[in-house]
Amino acid sequence: MQIGSVKLPSPFAIAPMAGMTDSAFRRLVKRHGGCGLVVTEMVSSEGLVRGIDRTLEYAEYTEEERPISIQIFGGDPDKMAAAAQIVEGMGADIVDVNMGCPVPKIAKHNAGCSLMREPEQAASVINAMTRAVKIPVTVKMRAGWNDAERNAPRLAKMVEDAGAAAIAVHGRTAAQSYSGSADWELVARIADDVRIPVFGSGDCVEPEQIVDKLRSGVDGVLVGRGVLRNPWILAQAEELAAGRPARDVTLDDRGRFLLDYIDMLKHERVDETRATSHDKWIVNKLRALASWYTKGLDNGSHLRTAINSAGSLDQLREIILNFFSPARFVLHV
Ligand SMILES: Cc1cc2nc3c(=O)[nH]c(=O)nc-3n(C[C@H](O)[C@H](O)[C@H](O)COP(=O)(O)O)c2cc1C
Repeated sequence: MQIGSVKLPSPFAIAPMAGMTDSAFRRLVKRHGGCGLVVTEMVSSEGLVRGIDRTLEYAEYTEEERPISIQIFGGDPDKMAAAAQIVEGMGADIVDVNMGCPVPKIAKHNAGCSLMREPEQAASVINAMTRAVKIPVTVKMRAGWNDAERNAPRLAKMVEDAGAAAIAVHGRTAAQSYSGSADWELVARIADDVRIPVFGSGDCVEPEQIVDKLRSGVDGVLVGRGVLRNPWILAQAEELAAGRPARDVTLDDRGRFLLDYIDMLKHERVDETRATSHDKWIVNKLRALASWYTKGLDNGSHLRTAINSAGSLDQLREIILNFFSPARFVLHV
């Protein structure tokens, strides 16, 4: 699997998720294996061009994350080209354009999924970017804006002609948000129609589903919420695809992941103008992850409630140890 000149060690990747896929999380998932590409949370082209500290923070990454794609959003070709140059200057391997975000705050500025409603403008953005940088420019889109405008197949061809090096398609419309299910037939049709690699995205929560989707004709699979529930899912999919049994993940492994995540977040640089302290920021990050991570776990709702009530990092660690390694507490009494 290759995007432009960038070789991916696996066709499975962590989907970009605002608020969730920070550098620490991406590194941890990558360390568990099976991950061919990581993508940052979406970053504002406007903020990049204006050099806003908080924006730059979202674009930060470490060497161990390579190959790394930085995802930007915006609708103005010149600004997107300038932002792509900044991303290239930051050393990213790939710059990705968000054409899938349905959130009004983004979409109303002619960015995110609303770009899909103006395919000529979307193609101009890609054209300006590909002329401005040497690194591959990729596009992440949805099936379309709504059921009456499922234009991903046409837009895919247009952005390919404009120089895009790969496309990712989340098989839902913006109007669907996360309801219904992703249309993987549409994604496979697009993969068949264009020459550049196509990633599919949507609804893979078991490693078997990732392998099935890969066999449906796409070149790669982006996994979002499935990774938040099970950070080992890409490694398990890689094992299954190679004909080996998928590894077991123990309760202890799951607890260790959260503790490692806390430790790594402690070492992250955070914007000093944040309203909350570094520790409080970490507690909030763990709360956000817990709402996904606890799904499907026995007594997961208890863990979620406990994490939501934690006021300090010490409390958080104790709750995690208590839940995932109860034997430790038995030994101590
Ligand atoms: C919390 C959350 C944040 C997301 N943020 C982004 C984003 O910043 N950029 C983007 O292109 N997609 C974003 N997505 C969409 C995902 O990348 C993915 O396409 C979608 O969730 C479907 O895949 P899944 O079913 O594997 O989660 C986000 C999804 C979630 C759940």
